[in-house]
Amino acid sequence: MNPKMGSDYHLFLDDISEIILTTEQIQARVNELGEQISRDYYQKDPILVGVLKGVMFFIADLSRAITIPVEVDFMAVSSYSQEARDKGLVRLVKDLETPITGRHVVFVEDMVDTGLTLNYLLRTLQMRQPATLNVCTLFNKQKLRLVDVPIKYKGFDLPDRFIVGYGLDYRERYRNLPFVGMLKPHIFQKKNS
Ligand code: IMP
Ligand code: MG
Repeated sequence: MNPKMGSDYHLFLDDISEIILTTEQIQARVNELGEQISRDYYQKDPILVGVLKGVMFFIADLSRAITIPVEVDFMAVSSYSQEARDKGLVRLVKDLETPITGRHVVFVEDMVDTGLTLNYLLRTLQMRQPATLNVCTLFNKQKLRLVDVPIKYKGFDLPDRFIVGYGLDYRERYRNLPFVGMLKPHIFQKKNS
């Protein structure tokens, strides 16, 4: 057993080939981002906007690392086919409950790779005329970028490798891993399980 994983996660041990970021590394960086946002948005009454579901742990930890008053709201999107996705088409399946006109918005993402989803959502939010709109992403895969998106706060730059954990899934599984790791190749060969 890999001691870094802890004994509680033995059910996942067969599936993970490598830990990319430990729980401690993630928490330390999230705390730094929280401090930075707290300083930058002092007396600005910011609102964190997250996209479900991948962002759930990041936004929970980030918001608790923020030491000024902050609101949290969510959107959810559903991707179309890969072809539609490549064109930047995204379907909004849940909108914000809060009007953001005139507000200081921090758009919180788990991962930016092509930037297509983020680009679409930023354009959608910009139309509502927030006072400011900045992006905070925990993970960034620059190599895959298809459209230029402005990122103000960034947790980690990662190589182009598929990762799971801390909210990121493979077929809806592994989100609950408290660390980020890579899956063994045989997992991708399974049809259904
Ligand atoms: P894009 O920037 O529009 O390509 O979309 C990025 C989204 O793809 C992220 O929010 C994740 O949901 C998903 N994604 C990208 N890379 C990974 C990965 O390595 N593991 C799991 N999900 C990923
Ligand atoms: Mg996402």
